[in-house]
Amino acid sequence: TQPITLTTLAKMRAAGERIVMLTAYDASFAALCERNGVDVLLIGDSLGNVIQGQKSTLPVTMEHMVYHTECVARAAQRAWVIADLPFGSYQESPAQALRNSARLLAAGAQMVKLEGGTYMAETVRFLVERGVPVCAHIGLTPQSVHQLGGYRVQGKTEAGAAQMKADALALEAAGAAMVVLEMVPATLAAEITQSLTSMATIGIGAGKDCDGQVLVLHDMLSVYPGKKARFVKNFMDGAASIDAAVAAYSAAVKDGSFPAAEHTY
Ligand code: KIV
Ligand code: NA
Repeated sequence: TQPITLTTLAKMRAAGERIVMLTAYDASFAALCERNGVDVLLIGDSLGNVIQGQKSTLPVTMEHMVYHTECVARAAQRAWVIADLPFGSYQESPAQALRNSARLLAAGAQMVKLEGGTYMAETVRFLVERGVPVCAHIGLTPQSVHQLGGYRVQGKTEAGAAQMKADALALEAAGAAMVVLEMVPATLAAEITQSLTSMATIGIGAGKDCDGQVLVLHDMLSVYPGKKARFVKNFMDGAASIDAAVAAYSAAVKDGSFPAAEHTY
């Protein structure tokens, strides 16, 4: 099978084929995800929580991200590989963002992900114009957890919803090819997805009407001991193996049966 490229992802979006994304942090799970239908592997800074046992993603460093990106990239053959820029590694300036993106690309990532709306558009454009594909991330942005007052649904007020729509359009205009929508009411995520012409929306707690879905691997395998958010489904439930659980997730995203109403805001 051919490796997935930005062109492949654009074609999938245009054809209405849902994009299956999962986080991975090491080579064995990257290979497992790939052989069970995962299109996109995300080395998320959620590794702070699920690998390191931190209370948030804030302590994650560039060194941690580079190490785990190398581990995943060595195993990935078909999947598109995205790595998170950790807190503090891109907010200072577009130049800082490019310098750290270059490290993630050298480690094997094909795209970087950063959190933030319109205020990050200048940085997104700076990266894209210099050859770095960018995935944006809006809605609940975990690196801003202290500012947001906890892990809660975003865009519930009229003003909040309008801001999020404007953010999505600004990020698309800046050249982001993908955007993660986290903890966003399903109707708002659907409206945002409809409003875009090229940027693919990937939902996590954002309803079924996104161009794709993502979950944290340790959440959907139910190996993370922390409290599970409403949008998480335990795919080990009724699965005979980890392979089967990931295959069930991929199938459920592709056929639109995940997320269901019970996982949605
Ligand atoms: O770090 C992460 O795993 C993420 C996903 C939840 C989108 O950013
Ligand atoms: Na993240």
